[in-house]
Amino acid sequence: MIAVQITRWVASIIGLGALLLGLAFWLFQINLLNVHMLFGFIVTLSLLGLGIAMLFSRGLRLLGIISIIYAPILPIFGMTQDGLLIGDLHWLIRIAHMLVGIGALVLISLIGARYQALKRNPGKTALKASLSSEKG
Ligand code: HEM
Repeated sequence: MIAVQITRWVASIIGLGALLLGLAFWLFQINLLNVHMLFGFIVTLSLLGLGIAMLFSRGLRLLGIISIIYAPILPIFGMTQDGLLIGDLHWLIRIAHMLVGIGALVLISLIGARYQALKRNPGKTALKASLSSEKG
């Protein structure tokens, strides 16, 4: 429980850092791409780790499988994007890479929230538990 929540919050903060560094490169040509990529790999490993952990949580296995499939897409896309759609339309690739990154952060948050709700209401499925804990 505690390991999942720590991973969730650390990955979210580092992911936000990756987003800001990516935007700093894109908008202001501040080149801290090495740090950006390191942060990106930490996000990837966190998502992979959470995904594997969710395989052992009843009701969260599908989210686990989605995360395990999604996680490698982030670095593969990140490392290859500079050769994709070179020219006037390259901004589309940049937006796509950013959205894939934000998608990973959303998945991490979703896992954290559903997992927490499930632990609070162990009798319910993950979705029902998170919906009822949102209602209060
Ligand atoms: C292992 C994961 C990642 C790798 C290897 C990676 C790699 C890169 C590289 C090489 C660039 C520069 C591209 C260029 O030369 O135009 C870049 C830019 C960028 N990245 Fe990432 N990145 C990763 C994860 C993320 C994440 C998690 C986010 C957001 C949450 C993100 C958001 C951005 C943004 C906004 C840019 C600037 C726009 C662009 O050039 O695409 N990246 N990334």
